[in-house]
Amino acid sequence: MKYLIGIDVGTSGTKAVLFDTDGNVINSHTEEYPLIQPKVGWAEQNPADWWNAVKGALRKITAGIDADDIAGLGLTGQMHGLVMLDEAGEVLTNAIIWCDGRTTEECREIERIIGKERLIEITANPALEGFTAGKIMWQKKHNPEKWAKCRHILLPKDYIRYKLTGDFATDVSDAGGMQLMDIKGRCWSAEVCSALGIDMALLPKLYESPEITGKITAEAAELTGVPAGLPVCAGGGDNAAAAIGTGVYCDGKSFTTVGTSGVVFAHTSKPLIDPKGRVHTFCCAVPGEWHVMGVTQAAGLSLNWFKNSLAQELSYREIDAQCENIPIGADKLIYLPYLMGERTPLLDANAKGVFFGLSAKHTKAHMACAVMEGVAYSLNDCLSVLSEMGVDVTDMAICGGGGKSNFWRSMIADVLALDLKLLQNDEGPALGAALLAGCGVGIYGSVAEACEHTVKVRDTVVHNDARHAEHEQYYEIYRRLYGSLKDDFALLAGI
Ligand code: XUL
Repeated sequence: MKYLIGIDVGTSGTKAVLFDTDGNVINSHTEEYPLIQPKVGWAEQNPADWWNAVKGALRKITAGIDADDIAGLGLTGQMHGLVMLDEAGEVLTNAIIWCDGRTTEECREIERIIGKERLIEITANPALEGFTAGKIMWQKKHNPEKWAKCRHILLPKDYIRYKLTGDFATDVSDAGGMQLMDIKGRCWSAEVCSALGIDMALLPKLYESPEITGKITAEAAELTGVPAGLPVCAGGGDNAAAAIGTGVYCDGKSFTTVGTSGVVFAHTSKPLIDPKGRVHTFCCAVPGEWHVMGVTQAAGLSLNWFKNSLAQELSYREIDAQCENIPIGADKLIYLPYLMGERTPLLDANAKGVFFGLSAKHTKAHMACAVMEGVAYSLNDCLSVLSEMGVDVTDMAICGGGGKSNFWRSMIADVLALDLKLLQNDEGPALGAALLAGCGVGIYGSVAEACEHTVKVRDTVVHNDARHAEHEQYYEIYRRLYGSLKDDFALLAGI
């Protein structure tokens, strides 16, 4: 029996999973860590927390396993986070992560320097607060002493790669989210880097996702229980890896996920770009191909916030059970999930969360239900942009923590008016990372073969047209609300 390991360095925690080569979970363990929010709209994490979680999770899943049976390890994780290392490979400061919104000024500066159109031509995306380039510019401006010592820039999963293998490397799907790549050419852009004053020597080496970037060092083996010399593949950003784990490897296939963020993702064999920049275009984990995706900043994060702040006494299961009794539209209560600003389709870091229509009749259950509906409406915004671009989004799977709730996923199917495939293995990103490693070490002949062999549909969430029509009335108001509040969000942010 051969095994593959997938590590997902997420926002709420890191999950390590040991799979067999049929994609079955043998062992799985998650270790959690905090999100650091020094100011409204800021979001940081300590890379040491990720590494400690990886060490703990790997120890757990490899206990009792014969080291010779482990064939490869794949990495995935939250995209865009900026890790800065000094000459000695030590972390210089907390990582500014994907949902941080502090870099609006830097984004405008990037557009001024490179030109809005040229930036999209090269990097396939407009300057966005979430992406890494703005975070680098922010560190240069606000943290010049640390910046002067910076010798390596890494993404979250690639910091873990460095700790495991000693290599400075990344993959094209994650690197696209740094906004320093020529997305069509699948290489770093000398033009963008030089215009922004970023020395390309700081950047990791670029690989296609299934390629092997290095091997586990003796020191890392000692700390993690994973055998020294084990090949580690490039892997992918969490969404690109989730695509592989959900069988989205060719045109016509798509998935949606409700993790900390929410995403509607579609494969594309051509680098399709939304001229308005509302959805992202990145290289995907299938060599030579791309994907387009819309992002809801605070999906699972919204419900997690609601539970931690207002319903600590309830489990997620209890919240679901209470919501079952609430009518569609939560008795006329609408929630805007913009807790961390919003990307698709607003591209506005100033946007903030709202409960609209709150009345004395409303209970916690109404609020929880409105939160879930607001997230579903935001995913519908993502779907609308992809449909407008002519992307085929009819064959869709669902994954992620929120996708495990019967109540929420059936609501999402109704709101999107799409049937959603449930997979036998819903590990998404971790499975994708492990499958990419399996491709890298030759267990599978191609990414397509890996997906065909392991990703199996177990059930389908069938949508209901009558419920869709009911949701549409509330979705209509949901869409109008941002327009009404846009200027006030900006005023509030300016205080
Ligand atoms: C994608 C994005 C998030 C993170 C966290 O652009 O920022 O989906 O990858 O999951």
